[in-house]
Amino acid sequence: MQGKDYDIRITSKHRVRFTRDAFNLDNRLLIDLLETNGQAKVLTFIDQGVADAFPELQTQVENYMERMPGYVSLGTIAYQGGEDCKRDANTLQTAWDAIEKAGIDRHSYIICIGGGAFLDVIGLAAATAHRGIRLVRFPTTALSQDDSGVGVKNGINAYGKKNFLGTFAVPYAVVNDFTFLHGQPETERRAGLVEAVKVALVKDAGFFHWIEDNIEQLSVLHPHTLEETVERSALLHASHIAYGGDPFETGSSRPLDFGHWAAHKMEQLTDFELTHADAVGVGVALDSLYSWKTGRLDEDSAMRILRVLKQLKLPTWHASLEMKADDGTRAVFKGLDEFREHLGGQLTVLLLKDLGKGEDVHAMDRDLLEECIDWLEMHASGRADWPQSAEA
Ligand SMILES: NC(=O)c1ccc[n+]([C@@H]2O[C@H](COP(=O)([O-])OP(=O)(O)OC[C@H]3O[C@@H](n4cnc5c(N)ncnc54)[C@H](O)[C@@H]3O)[C@@H](O)[C@H]2O)c1
Ligand SMILES: [Zn+2]
Repeated sequence: MQGKDYDIRITSKHRVRFTRDAFNLDNRLLIDLLETNGQAKVLTFIDQGVADAFPELQTQVENYMERMPGYVSLGTIAYQGGEDCKRDANTLQTAWDAIEKAGIDRHSYIICIGGGAFLDVIGLAAATAHRGIRLVRFPTTALSQDDSGVGVKNGINAYGKKNFLGTFAVPYAVVNDFTFLHGQPETERRAGLVEAVKVALVKDAGFFHWIEDNIEQLSVLHPHTLEETVERSALLHASHIAYGGDPFETGSSRPLDFGHWAAHKMEQLTDFELTHADAVGVGVALDSLYSWKTGRLDEDSAMRILRVLKQLKLPTWHASLEMKADDGTRAVFKGLDEFREHLGGQLTVLLLKDLGKGEDVHAMDRDLLEECIDWLEMHASGRADWPQSAEA
């Protein structure tokens, strides 16, 4: 007898919300978002950096939770966030300990308020305790609000590798509260813009045109323009995950990683002195230029991209591009090998055919990349004039 095959689709709802002052007693968003059996427990983890920046937050959250009808508030716990909390397993262990001690079960909620690193660690604790507790993420940096926070991944670093231990787990909900967005230092708010430009370039030409049209406001981080940028970027990222056909990244094509092969390598070469945002700025500039030099993208579009990056004060060149590997080759090129290894198969890099339209390629010409790096260096250092259309 022939076997019987059943392919059964399991779907999850990905709730993404935008608000302001979520923990103001008049804001009903959380009350309407969560569901309770009459006694659902809620435990809240807060990134210490956010608690420091918003000294009233912990009390506000506790007051809000205590007044939520049908819930049992288990209070708030603050731990140090940032990359350090992903580097050793201590925060993860402490979070598991707190979950176990609080008697959190599968009818309960964990609320996590913090930057991308903190969300990654607490997300991993929530996804693994009891095989998964409902997690409500509150991303608090511009980068996590418009990119990573609306995603479905978590993780910690281990064995010297970033995100080596982690899971894919769809959070119960993501709440982007703009109060946190505006409370950050300027560099952090600006950092979020790069992923918005990136996702516009690979997914939505209309959004790129909108960024160009609003460039003056955006370059000074005008609050409403910044909010709209974050919202559009977050929705494009979330929609790609939901409808792009590969939410758990089993294939090799990663359009949201446009410009990232070089960026990841530059971050590593500088021992993470170069921030992810700045590295992605350079990576996007490099791959846009390469898209033009290989005849895929027209020159005017390539120059418009460089102009937007410049106007948003995002770098288009960095000295780490000049670093050499032990074998004398340009060290950044090792990023291509590492990107391929990470994807676990064929090298797949997205290049641009047009604004808002990408194309996967499986090889990159190193001589042409050399030319592009030289071009960026000449123009960033002022030894060559920017073409008219790229002048800020
Ligand atoms: N899970 C994913 O899909 C995914 C995707 C991309 C990146 N990431 C991860 O995200 C991390 C980077 O996250 P990030 O850029 O959000 O920064 P971050 O989490 O490292 O936070 C940076 C610093 O800002 C503080 N902070 C956070 N919000 C603040 C606020 N509103 N006001 C003042 N201070 C605040 C934090 O305490 C921390 O010290 C990396 O570890 C990266 O690997 C995850
Ligand atoms: Zn990124």
